[in-house]
Amino acid sequence: MNSHSVLARFAATPATLFHNPRAEGGGGWPDDLEGLLGSEDCAAARLDVAAWPGYAPTPLRDLSGLAQAAGLAALSYKDEGGRFGLGSFKALGGPLAVRRLLARNPAAGDGATVACATDGNHGRAVAWAAQAFGCASAIYIHEGVSQGREDAIAGYGARVVRVPGIYDDSLRRVQADAGENGWILVSDTAGDDFDQTQLDILQGYTTLADEALTQLGQAPTHVFVQGGVGGLAAAVCGHLWQVLGARRPHTAVVEPEKAACLYVSAVNGKPTLFPGDLDTVMACLAAGEVNLPAWRILDRAADTFLTIPDEAAVAGMRLLAEGIGGDAPVVAGESGVAALAGLLAACADGGARKSLGLADDSRVLVIGSEGATDPALYRRIVGRSPDEVGGTG
Ligand SMILES: Cc1ncc(COP(=O)(O)O)c(C=O)c1O
Repeated sequence: MNSHSVLARFAATPATLFHNPRAEGGGGWPDDLEGLLGSEDCAAARLDVAAWPGYAPTPLRDLSGLAQAAGLAALSYKDEGGRFGLGSFKALGGPLAVRRLLARNPAAGDGATVACATDGNHGRAVAWAAQAFGCASAIYIHEGVSQGREDAIAGYGARVVRVPGIYDDSLRRVQADAGENGWILVSDTAGDDFDQTQLDILQGYTTLADEALTQLGQAPTHVFVQGGVGGLAAAVCGHLWQVLGARRPHTAVVEPEKAACLYVSAVNGKPTLFPGDLDTVMACLAAGEVNLPAWRILDRAADTFLTIPDEAAVAGMRLLAEGIGGDAPVVAGESGVAALAGLLAACADGGARKSLGLADDSRVLVIGSEGATDPALYRRIVGRSPDEVGGTG
């Protein structure tokens, strides 16, 4: 497979780039960001997660064939599809917060209900944790969340409430209902009213970045990570900065062009609402408002913000399912593949590639944040079921 035929698939799906003038390269992890993402707290969170039954590091897939086709020295894909059997990295954050919230609220006792709004994966993880830690859960979803994702959440015994509108509408509803009913809110996003829960979630997410660094053995030159409200990206970029200091890689945050709240916030230099219905195939990234603590980290830790059209994610899913140049096939969901799609869209565009400093000696880490969390949708897009692609069908 030559580079032309692979990158040609992304020629019609260009990425839009913004290089962040406030990114701090060249220096160590700033002391004042420790208050948001404390190194020791993160280490404790990772120890906690690693002690849960069923914990195992997720695989780091070596995509040498694709690297060659894209004109890169190495391409590693951190595949979160198998995380705790929940299909995404979200199993690292919400459940840790649930555990800590229950520990902080012993008075809630057996009758506790944890609640959250979700595009799918966070709610699934919170419902799983509620079942595992012995409390009830109420999970709020919006119109755009597929039936497959709703069923997966309900499968963990959650009460699922569907709310008209977008993610932010479901968030406001669950906040109101939790207040009225005395439920414990486990929100993975917040504005300037953020509290320890959102910080706990970021700490849990650092697990995947920590594993990836160990698996790589050598620091990457570039990291591509997808953004919804920004929590995952903040944890990944923050952790790499904590560990690697001034040697931290170039960090790039990829969002759907139809739901790019981090991108517009970067352009404006302050948290900014992304308007519209956020209608994107990358459903788990469909957020109109940033998570404030995550934003405060990304504002200084993210070097480039990219947006991509839906077609780039679709092309990325198909390409991973094929396996390029001898690479083993990988099953990736629409949001899970966004970081890789952003990288390939940038590689297909000479100007973007150059401005990101991507070259034939680059060693790139991309975060694959989910597997096929909606198998029916996966089949429609890829033409085969996840089992068939993954070699178990
Ligand atoms: C699969 C997947 N990838 C990425 C994200 C983005 O994470 P965040 O909203 O913390 O930016 C999400 C969020 O739900 C997700 O489910």
